[in-house]
Amino acid sequence: MDDPLAAALPALDGLAPHRVELFALRTRRWWPDLLAGLTGVYPDPEAVGRRLLALAAQAYAARPDDLHVLDLQRSLEPDWFQRPEVVGYAAYTERFSPDGTLAGVADRVGHLRSLGVRYLHLMPLLEPRPVPNDGGYAVADYRSVRPDLGTVDDLAALASRLRESGISLCLDLVLNHVAREHAWARAARAGDERYRAYFHVFPDREQPDAYEQTLPEVFPDFAPGSFSHDADLDGWVWTTFNTWQWDLDWSNPDVLAEMADVVLFLANLGVEVLRLDAIAFIWKRLGTACQNQPEVHGITQALKAVTRIAAPATLLKAEAIVGPGDLVHYLGQGRHAGRVSDLAYHNGLMVQVWSMLASRDAGLAAEALGAVPPVPSTTAWITYVRCHDDIGWAIDDADAAAVGLNGFDHRSFLSDFYSGTHPGSFAQGLVFQANPATGDRRISGTTAALAGLQRAQADGDGPAVDDAVARILLAHALVLGWGGVPVLWSGDEVAAGNDPRWREQPGHDEDNRWAHRPRLDDAALAAAQDDPASPSGQVLSGLRRLAATRARLEHLHASVASEAVPTPDRGVLGVLRRHPLGLMIGLYNVTETWGGVPDWWLSEQGLELDDLHDHLAGGPPGRDEHAVLLPPYGALWLTAPPT
Ligand code: GLC
Repeated sequence: MDDPLAAALPALDGLAPHRVELFALRTRRWWPDLLAGLTGVYPDPEAVGRRLLALAAQAYAARPDDLHVLDLQRSLEPDWFQRPEVVGYAAYTERFSPDGTLAGVADRVGHLRSLGVRYLHLMPLLEPRPVPNDGGYAVADYRSVRPDLGTVDDLAALASRLRESGISLCLDLVLNHVAREHAWARAARAGDERYRAYFHVFPDREQPDAYEQTLPEVFPDFAPGSFSHDADLDGWVWTTFNTWQWDLDWSNPDVLAEMADVVLFLANLGVEVLRLDAIAFIWKRLGTACQNQPEVHGITQALKAVTRIAAPATLLKAEAIVGPGDLVHYLGQGRHAGRVSDLAYHNGLMVQVWSMLASRDAGLAAEALGAVPPVPSTTAWITYVRCHDDIGWAIDDADAAAVGLNGFDHRSFLSDFYSGTHPGSFAQGLVFQANPATGDRRISGTTAALAGLQRAQADGDGPAVDDAVARILLAHALVLGWGGVPVLWSGDEVAAGNDPRWREQPGHDEDNRWAHRPRLDDAALAAAQDDPASPSGQVLSGLRRLAATRARLEHLHASVASEAVPTPDRGVLGVLRRHPLGLMIGLYNVTETWGGVPDWWLSEQGLELDDLHDHLAGGPPGRDEHAVLLPPYGALWLTAPPT
């Protein structure tokens, strides 16, 4: 094989010798990963690899000096994102920034830092098609910014302003599909064969029908089916999501090269984390659900190798909302271990948090979370109470059966509970995408709406308000106490309820996920700050305290895995973290009654009882003669001795 560097050298012409040398060193380190990722995916992996390396060299040569320094800094502390002091936050720019623009986001830095935020995910902001555009997930141009938010220069300026404050910017990379209005799709519609080959286009229904035998419905309600007829194409185009979101054909190496170039373009603007949207869907195979195919991981490995060569400060974050057995592959298993995404959403944890709160029982969570295979110690889970999407009840039938539950019935119960129809439910969620064929009913709603605060406040029911506040803080204690990067959703820090006016914005009226994407209300923020005893004040100060406590607790470094275990009290979940510093046990009471975990159980796990310290309360835990006690919805972060 020729030296792969030969493909890169022309782009490096004129760079200082040390820069060229560094590129060569990185190529030597990552070329084998790049090639291995492409092998088995593309017929000529070496040719594709050389093409990507040439793109990497161009991006490297164009990379601003301060980002070269950042690359060096991150290479010296590759675990920066795994550290307990890293908390994330996610928001829509126009709903978060005081003046609705990218530049205005800088005015929120103080607020973010008060919550320990070191990582900010701004929701899709690259130029989308006109509404409807799925909240920006239908991108028309990856190289420009939505004009109402600002320009590409504003984006780069914000990224560096955030970085000065210790906050890394995360953006979405929508790589499964583009808008029907994207230049590639327009060229395809105009009859350009090269661009037609960027998409999956079929002349008739024969193949779409064959695929649909095994394809699940993603949006059964507003976009049934996975193919759309397009008159311009005179054919059927693959559209997993909406008819105007055209799936790219990743088996075409041109698509990979285009997207790799977009990755490098964004990295050179100072974007540090790329959220690989809907990554599970990018490879299609007849007779399967067309999700989680092995090629997905090969392609991710190639993208990672390219960024490690040209812009190694860049992290990849997989958005794969799939079952636990499939999910762990996104952080790398087998030959991909440590070679794919650095971060991935822990959807399973999020689902179990809500399942426990509804059932007041930690048994299923311990079973399901305990069964998640280990992930590489160089990666981290994104943990979250909820995000901008709906909650789908990803509860495995076998896990449910193991604790005596019927999976289908439990999922139905959760949908009833969180849409508020189950007798005694505290929640006020909305049903999203009911699917009569499968019985699935996903749920929209803010944390405050789902945890019962919205209802309790409307009812003027003081004790129920207290319970709801405690539930919100418990859910966050669990997510911040898991180890990983906990991401807070904007508005949840002031306990915002569902947005009653969510339908009013054009293009939103059919999609009730907008109910839980509220604007961050300055008056609500000021009120929460000024009155720490109010419900929103308790939530805000409680979250700040959790983040500050977490930052000091080395045991929460993400390189150490969390083990969920049942405790003798079914209402209390145990989470063990076997850190070299010593054992940490998180205990979480998911009920509105007192709970207790006996001493014998704690010592059986290996915890020294003499000097027990609860980091959350900052002292010894409350106890009786034989057990550590947990108040209703109480959480304990125990170590012994105190660190
Ligand atoms: C991801 C996004 C979701 C969007 C979908 C299609 O799942 O999180 O909001 O609808 O991708 O792009």
